[in-house]
Amino acid sequence: MESNECSSISNNNIICSNNNNNGLFPLSMMNTTRYYNDGDIQFRPLEIDDYDKGYSALLCQLTEAKFTKSQYIERYNQMKKELDNYYVVVVEDKSKSKIIGTGTLMVEKKFIRGCALCGHIEDIVVDSTYRGKNLGLKMIEQLKYIGTLVGCYKLILDCDENNVKFYEKCGFVKKQAMMALYLPPQPKL
Ligand SMILES: CC(C)(COP(=O)(O)OP(=O)(O)OC[C@H]1O[C@@H](n2cnc3c(N)ncnc32)[C@H](O)[C@@H]1OP(=O)(O)O)[C@@H](O)C(=O)NCCC(=O)NCCS
Repeated sequence: MESNECSSISNNNIICSNNNNNGLFPLSMMNTTRYYNDGDIQFRPLEIDDYDKGYSALLCQLTEAKFTKSQYIERYNQMKKELDNYYVVVVEDKSKSKIIGTGTLMVEKKFIRGCALCGHIEDIVVDSTYRGKNLGLKMIEQLKYIGTLVGCYKLILDCDENNVKFYEKCGFVKKQAMMALYLPPQPKL
């Protein structure tokens, strides 16, 4: 596990919240041996109460992400049922009860490579007023830790060209090209 971690984080201290009964996944799946030395900054699994701590507003710094509390709870509960698929990590500034960072590891079950697991890193964002403090890098570190723990053979992600350097600092390398096709909205089934 150690060799998979970014060297620039290795001496830092990350506090992982112990108060996690409502977490999307067990706290024990996160790297709790390293902690961040600002006592108010905590990394932990997403919790059902995080809507009220600005989770939607934070995601709006990434893309369109307006949703109601009931939509949040419905989606949270769907994810929680798929226990081994969705790992949404958040960073909370406890002094403000505010979610200031988030990132998701989505685990895809494949047939290839002996029914391997592939991890998709999604929706990485750090609040604009907290950027440049290595929180993004630590978030990726936590997702890499979980991905290794659950047995993913690789982690992949799509990003804008202007974030390539950030992900390279997190240990990723550029591979192939990304393609996208946006589909027309359909009525809900
Ligand atoms: C990208 C993002 C998550 C980075 O978070 P952050 O906490 O500011 O980044 P960190 O402080 O952990 O940066 C780690 C290292 O990467 C570098 N870095 C961060 N973003 C970078 C960028 N866009 N270009 C080049 N280097 C970057 C930092 O300078 C730092 O390097 P250093 O250790 O040599 O000083 C944050 O800028 C963000 O939320 N952006 C808006 C949303 C977004 O684009 N998310 C990515 C979706 S794919």
